[in-house]
Amino acid sequence: MILVTGANGQLGQCFRQAATHWPGQVFVFAGSQELDLSDRRAVRAFIKSWQSLQSLQDDKLRWVINCAAYTAVDKAESEPEKARKVNVLGTQNLAEACAEFGIPLVHFSTDYVYHNRQNTPFLETDPVSPKGVYARTKLAGERAALRAHPLSMIIRTSWVYSAFGQNFVKTMLRLGREHATLKVVADQIGSPTYAPDLADAVLSIIQKVESGEVPKESIAGIWHYANEGVASWYDFAAAIFELEKIPCRAYPIATKDYPTPARRPPFSVLDKSKIKAAFGLEIPHWRESLQQCLILLQTS
Ligand SMILES: NC(=O)c1ccc[n+]([C@@H]2O[C@H](COP(=O)([O-])OP(=O)(O)OC[C@H]3O[C@@H](n4cnc5c(N)ncnc54)[C@H](OP(=O)(O)O)[C@@H]3O)[C@@H](O)[C@H]2O)c1
Repeated sequence: MILVTGANGQLGQCFRQAATHWPGQVFVFAGSQELDLSDRRAVRAFIKSWQSLQSLQDDKLRWVINCAAYTAVDKAESEPEKARKVNVLGTQNLAEACAEFGIPLVHFSTDYVYHNRQNTPFLETDPVSPKGVYARTKLAGERAALRAHPLSMIIRTSWVYSAFGQNFVKTMLRLGREHATLKVVADQIGSPTYAPDLADAVLSIIQKVESGEVPKESIAGIWHYANEGVASWYDFAAAIFELEKIPCRAYPIATKDYPTPARRPPFSVLDKSKIKAAFGLEIPHWRESLQQCLILLQTS
């Protein structure tokens, strides 16, 4: 059995959808109403109850995938305690409970932990220098998980979007249909990540461990996952308009002309060689996945 926490968020909903492709696995989905990660006792009790449950198929809890997080990057600047409560304490609570009951934990972090001037993709071993509350709390959460539980797989990802929740693609579709022109930041470079690709990658890693193809211990530590290819937000917006045939013209602007409370890294492309090699993953290019997302949005 696989428990997905933060199950009503963007990535959580993608796991719900991806679960339908994995009929051999039993899933439990818990949103913040069912499981508030900031409540240490409740987290332990929840994990314990599922861990000790033995149904007819002997479906003990075998994996926890944590999609819960405080993700309001700009708002975090004015409510750092709220961000810390979820991203640091919540993660630590879950990691401690998973460690106590011997359950591997998959947890997500962010490309925003990197803020060094660099023009080659970041390796997992590169120095981190998060700016802003969200980025700092996400890094502290990674460290808390790794300290509490040796079987923590921390996946740093970037620019996540999907047909669910609020994200850049959905915002651009709305704004592009409302305006003839749009100014979009062109000096922040990264890689978009289609959340269903990330969910499928995680479930295929779990499958490989479960089948004995790779040892469970090999998941431990920090990993990168994003779609292939690089883009600026301007490139990303222009591709959305082009693929969707929206007659809105995107104009590139500089970050300094679009000030936000939290600073974003100018370059946060993640090197994904490690996860691809360890688990034999093939990662689609971001344009290919964007097309899939747009088709899904058209038909939903
Ligand atoms: N979105 C991105 O661009 C991006 C980029 C890099 C990394 N990531 C990481 O990817 C992961 C998934 O992000 P996402 O886009 O799916 O975020 P999201 O849509 O904001 O979902 C986060 C979920 O966490 C839940 N949550 C908040 N506080 C909680 C608590 N105390 N206990 C339990 N659940 C709680 C929220 O529930 P409520 O709504 O009920 O509060 C929400 O459903 C996060 O770790 C995030 O940091 C995201």
